[in-house]
Amino acid sequence: MFASKTALAKWKETEAALCFSSGYAAALGTIPALVEKNDVIILDKLCHASLIDGAKLSGATLRVFPHNHLGKLKSHLEWARQKNSAACILIVTESVFSMDGDRAPLPEIVKLKKDFGAQLFLDEAHAVGVIGRNGRGLAFEENLSQEVHVQMGTLSKALGVSGGYICGLRNMTEWLINRARSFIFSTAPPPALAAAAKAAVDFLSSDEGEKRRQRLWRNIDILAEELSIEPASAIVPWIIGDEKATLVAAQNLQDNGFLVPAIRYPTVAKGTARLRITLSAAHEATQLRSLAGVIKRLPKRD
Ligand SMILES: Cc1ncc(COP(=O)(O)O)c(C=O)c1O
Repeated sequence: MFASKTALAKWKETEAALCFSSGYAAALGTIPALVEKNDVIILDKLCHASLIDGAKLSGATLRVFPHNHLGKLKSHLEWARQKNSAACILIVTESVFSMDGDRAPLPEIVKLKKDFGAQLFLDEAHAVGVIGRNGRGLAFEENLSQEVHVQMGTLSKALGVSGGYICGLRNMTEWLINRARSFIFSTAPPPALAAAAKAAVDFLSSDEGEKRRQRLWRNIDILAEELSIEPASAIVPWIIGDEKATLVAAQNLQDNGFLVPAIRYPTVAKGTARLRITLSAAHEATQLRSLAGVIKRLPKRD
């Protein structure tokens, strides 16, 4: 995985990168390696299961703030600093949330992180390939890469391969090589995957890759306009609420030629079942308009 981790660090413009067998393994190994029992982890309520499991495994004290709620994040930070002025406080969040498609308010989170001497772990799974020049992610787009201690990601989404990675300072990745159990005690991704991952990163870094990303944004903008929503990422949730109605809607879409999964509890909170639309650069404008047409004809939402 040597070539792909070097390519990843170059692409993300970080000092170093480390590859894991999956994004799940990256989170599960990294979070416990960075904090100890007396430390505090503060997570967004909508964080992915891999982040929650990594946080639980660490044995640190956990605090959860309502999704993107900066006031509650601040009060958790105050509490954590008061509890132990020397503790490591790790804020864990995502760039783009997997079931909502919205973004974390990164500049504000970075400010709070600095005010309280905390560290920031950012899962860029749904931002890479989509946000920032050459798909480098939200931290890059906001010019905040240097403020994010741990940039995590997966190769399994926009990059079309499989495997996970951590980007950041070299002393951090070297620490992980020696401390992250899911790295040490699990087989490394095989050479074929490493080669495919490197090809994907090289493509994204190229002018052709950037053109394809622009095409994806053209599609995101078309659908957002058709559905009268704010474009934020390639994930577009259409919240219906009722689970049965959502399943019926997904079947209706499938009958019209659109594969849009119905997402229900426990993946999302009860009463917030939704259609989860994922856009790609390969979609045609006519397809998106007809998808929007079918969605708009669905029975009214809750
Ligand atoms: C936000 C987020 N983080 C992490 C992961 C885990 O990545 P992987 O599928 O590579 O284990 C996923 C994917 O399912 C995800 O959506």
